[in-house]
Amino acid sequence: MIKDLQQKILRLKREQDVCILAHSYMSEEICEVADFTGDSFALSVKAKSAPQGTIIMCGVRFMAEVVKMLSPEKRVYLANAQAGCPMAEQFDEEIISEVKKSYPDYAVVAYINTTARLKTVADVCVTSSSAVKICRALPQKNILFIPDINLGTYVKEQVPEKNFKLLSGGCPTHAKIQREDALAAKEAHPNALLLVHPECRPEVVELADFVGSTAGIMEYAEKSDKREFIIGTENAIVQHLQFKCPDKDFYPLSKDLVCNNMKLTTLIDLLRCLEGRGGEQITMDENLRLKAVKSIDKMIEFGG
Ligand code: 13P
Ligand code: SF4
Repeated sequence: MIKDLQQKILRLKREQDVCILAHSYMSEEICEVADFTGDSFALSVKAKSAPQGTIIMCGVRFMAEVVKMLSPEKRVYLANAQAGCPMAEQFDEEIISEVKKSYPDYAVVAYINTTARLKTVADVCVTSSSAVKICRALPQKNILFIPDINLGTYVKEQVPEKNFKLLSGGCPTHAKIQREDALAAKEAHPNALLLVHPECRPEVVELADFVGSTAGIMEYAEKSDKREFIIGTENAIVQHLQFKCPDKDFYPLSKDLVCNNMKLTTLIDLLRCLEGRGGEQITMDENLRLKAVKSIDKMIEFGG
């Protein structure tokens, strides 16, 4: 049944010249039919260079919006219209514009997990894999980092030469994980390395052997000569790694590390989107796009 659906999807995407992008949190069966799977940064770069006229994003809304910003001439679809990122909606541009008034000489650095409207008040966007490098390279000494306080705290520690002002946003999925969960997982698997996403709380990050984006975690585990790993990010990564490295063992840091939004998209959604009876075509006001895309272009210029 899954194979049949995948065959249909592969046929339709070939016939219709569609590029399927899938965030690494998607299920194995979706990643198998995608043209490209990766973290937020890699997907943004790929979206810009994809030759196809239509792109379907299997991920969450802000990712499809970024694709549309970078490729306004393309038809861009979000495979499941309900898939949002709660962090992206936490602050609006009016609030940030107000905060900016108190910090006029601060560069606004926005995590890519933000709405297009919020990106219009940012100087530059970053992803979890590019945040440290970009904050270090920015000419400004003062940085207002929005919205994720956990990623912001991690970046601040890596870039001590700069002054950071952080807000109190964050990912509800990663923030669920407490220090006790990490200690319990380490006790249960004493030989395993702990690999975590920087959206986790600082007290969890502090216990980690490696901190990185979804792609960073996967690359680290694949290349490592160690055999056991506790994965401190969405549990889809545990499954992907187990497929990629059958001789190694991967354990979820917690059974609660599940993003309900990332779990929404199914193979059926993708098929229906290709058949023109599902998903949502992303449209964007051109003025909004022009203002918002500057911060993404700048991020790509810095090279991730
Ligand atoms: P990455 O930048 O690692 O892909 O993370 C995106 C995300 O939503 C993590 O929760
Ligand atoms: Fe958003 Fe967190 Fe889900 Fe990533 S894991 S999409 S940051 S809610």
